[in-house]
Amino acid sequence: FKIPTPTNEPGNTYAPGTKERETLKAELTRQSSIVIDIPVIINGENIKTDTVKQVVMPHDHQHVLANYSQAGEKELRDAVEAAMAAKEAWANMAWEHRAAIFLKAADLISGPYRDVMNAATMLGQSKTVIQAEIDSAQELVDFLRFGVDYANQVYQIQPSSMKNVWNRTDYRPLDGFVLAISPFNFTAIGGNLPAAPAMMGNVVVWKPATTSILANYYFMRILEEAGLPKGVINFVPSRGSQVSEVVLTDPRMSGFHFTGSTSTFQTIWKTVGENIASYKSYPRLIGETGGKDFVFAHETAQADKVVANLVRGAFEYQGQKCSAASRAYIPASMWEEVKAGLVEEAAKLKVGDVRDFRNFMGAVIDKAAFDSITSYIDYAAASEEAEIIAGGTYDDSVGYFVQPTIIVTTNPNFKTMVEEIFGPVLTIYVYENDKLEETLEAVDTASMYALTGSIFAQDRGAILHLENRLSGAAGNFYINDKPTGAMINQQPFGGSRGSGTNDKAGSVFNMIRWTSPRVIKENF
Ligand code: SER
Repeated sequence: FKIPTPTNEPGNTYAPGTKERETLKAELTRQSSIVIDIPVIINGENIKTDTVKQVVMPHDHQHVLANYSQAGEKELRDAVEAAMAAKEAWANMAWEHRAAIFLKAADLISGPYRDVMNAATMLGQSKTVIQAEIDSAQELVDFLRFGVDYANQVYQIQPSSMKNVWNRTDYRPLDGFVLAISPFNFTAIGGNLPAAPAMMGNVVVWKPATTSILANYYFMRILEEAGLPKGVINFVPSRGSQVSEVVLTDPRMSGFHFTGSTSTFQTIWKTVGENIASYKSYPRLIGETGGKDFVFAHETAQADKVVANLVRGAFEYQGQKCSAASRAYIPASMWEEVKAGLVEEAAKLKVGDVRDFRNFMGAVIDKAAFDSITSYIDYAAASEEAEIIAGGTYDDSVGYFVQPTIIVTTNPNFKTMVEEIFGPVLTIYVYENDKLEETLEAVDTASMYALTGSIFAQDRGAILHLENRLSGAAGNFYINDKPTGAMINQQPFGGSRGSGTNDKAGSVFNMIRWTSPRVIKENF
């Protein structure tokens, strides 16, 4: 058989007057007027627990969308046992049948459940319609379709044989179960973290972020409808510390797929290290963590392109992409033009309820995020080393709204220039044109991260120099483009240093990590 050749899922525009806009609006109204119960799902069974929590809209935090059951110690143990019980049948299911389940799920999301997924992502995570479309429709579908293709490519990587000798590689799944812990900021990542290991024949315990649980739950239901056998992926909203105690340290934990904060990943790594002798196999730890993504403009850059890409890179999805532009370096010779452009563009950005499609930004995800982001704004407002040239205001009376904020600093190591903020806050350092090398040193060393980065330049020699000089500073490096918006199969995504293990989500590299290959030699 041949796996259908995937292509990137086309996006809808939801322009006024289109049918797609009408049906999505109806789904938004429907989901806004009900409160659903979200169970823990173990071995295909819906389980209600004693601890029930609310899912609210970030842009209208008194509005409850769902009540979810939180898994406790018993449910977490049950989830591990359910996964292990499902393991043999799943690993032995013919590959084309495993593949068919994920291809069907992709078609269900692309077609009948597109509105459900987009509405859940808009309401639950406060994404605007276009940000939801590129995430919970396009990227999620791409992860599934390309993931099947990558898995298939892995299976084709085979050793040579000789006359009377046949050598084969048997791509077994890992010898245990995989724990997936997913973030709120991309519904697609929430889908890929459990789905990628499962495609390779692994069984999974999946802890979604509680703030994206609505969309993650609908995805789980779609997998079930597509035919995913019971127990292959177990859905366990829960507390991180309890998952560490019960699931992470289980001797059968053989792989960990994570996107989230650097500090959480480091804590997990330490816990695994402390328990290393108790595991049956060395666990694979695959994580995409923080970022402090840069935009560097060279004096030969086009100022209007720098402005347009900074605005989109910094403020789309309220700056809550791990790839978001959060620090920029602008040459003094270009600063007046860039500054005027940024101030003008930032003033045009509308912030508000994402059900009003004219808004460019929704709310930040929750109270903790709001408090953290605004503390950075307050810090800059009070500092003599910084000036706020746009935004700087916020209001959480209805939703967690933070205006797009631009800080200019005289210190290349200013706090907001080096620490991850994960919100709509961009900090700019204006460098003297003759201080290029010192500034590049600051770009490279100011932060502990190396996820994404962009350079803007027209001169070929400058492009070459910047690409080489900043070779360690980003796993995804953009030339004359914003640092966000990596597409599956076009820009495999991931960073190094404090940004993760750089196993490139959406690639063969990632899929191969979910296998424990056995090489078989047979003499004839
Ligand atoms: N893949 C996303 C982007 O590139 C981030 O996770 O923006």
